[in-house]
Amino acid sequence: MEFPVTRMRRLRKNHNIRTILTESKLNPEDFVYPMFVKEGLEDGQKEHIDTMPGQYRYSINDTVEEASRLEEIGLSSVLLFGMPLLKDDKGSMAYNKDGIVQQAVRRLKKETDLVVITDVCMCQYTSHGHCGIIRDDEIINDETLNYLSKIALSHAEAGADIVAPSDMMDGRVGAIRKTLDLNGHYNTIIMSYSAKYSSSFYAPFRDAVCSAPCFGDRKSYQMNPSNTSEALREVKMDIDEGADIVMIKPAMPYLDIIKGVKDEFKMPTAAYQVSGEYSMLMAGINAGYITKESIYESLQSIKRAGADLIITHFAPEFLEGSI
Ligand code: PBG
Ligand code: ZN
Repeated sequence: MEFPVTRMRRLRKNHNIRTILTESKLNPEDFVYPMFVKEGLEDGQKEHIDTMPGQYRYSINDTVEEASRLEEIGLSSVLLFGMPLLKDDKGSMAYNKDGIVQQAVRRLKKETDLVVITDVCMCQYTSHGHCGIIRDDEIINDETLNYLSKIALSHAEAGADIVAPSDMMDGRVGAIRKTLDLNGHYNTIIMSYSAKYSSSFYAPFRDAVCSAPCFGDRKSYQMNPSNTSEALREVKMDIDEGADIVMIKPAMPYLDIIKGVKDEFKMPTAAYQVSGEYSMLMAGINAGYITKESIYESLQSIKRAGADLIITHFAPEFLEGSI
């Protein structure tokens, strides 16, 4: 045979040819923007998060203002994290109907058309920083389910479109689904952090919201990073308990898991590019070691792996067209 009949480089010849042959494209509606709402902050006094360059904690007003600005340039959805003034051993501010998240949800639903997602967990609200109820240094699974259900219900009552449990207790999706249904919130969607690994990439987030556990670690409830089939079992359990959307977290170090879950279950699948992934890229960019294009490439890898939704602190950069 003559020198290659097929020349792959024909299809890479120029920008327009490359553009029409792009296989997976990122769209504005792929993105969910995580926001930190802090109780007690004055309006106009957003706080910079030093471990996450370019990210802030906002008052309720400022959250609504920033979310509205992003909505105007194409944002469809936000994921809210609350920071209460008071913490106790049962995380009671997490299910208070006038808690920080509940108030923020009511305002966002009233003043924007955004899909509002809430993180359902206890760690920002407990004095010990764990994601559940504690007795003798043990995280008590079944008792925690009652609290998670109360938290999710309070978010649904405030108007949240989607509740997203991130605690990794067994049976929480079923417990939350039952509580929501019994109270008439059968249309509230559950996006479960199904395969949530015990990851060192959460460090900047824990600093951002002051939620690091005061003893031990989260390894007795979050997953071992070496495990693949366990992730598939976790996802299967959550689907059986009524999850509508499943999530893999973190994203970039677990692209194989995203692909495996999407291929196996064909569920709406979300991936969370977590704080450490964000800060790692920002550090490299700010130091001049890599360029801003690395951000786009990181997001593309998550989409290519099969994610329908990408939760990322880079959502504004994408929408602003700066990457
Ligand atoms: C709390 C929660 C965490 C994240 C989301 N929800 C941290 C943790 O489990 O310690 C991580 C988010 C991030 O790192 O961006 N359950
Ligand atoms: Zn937690």
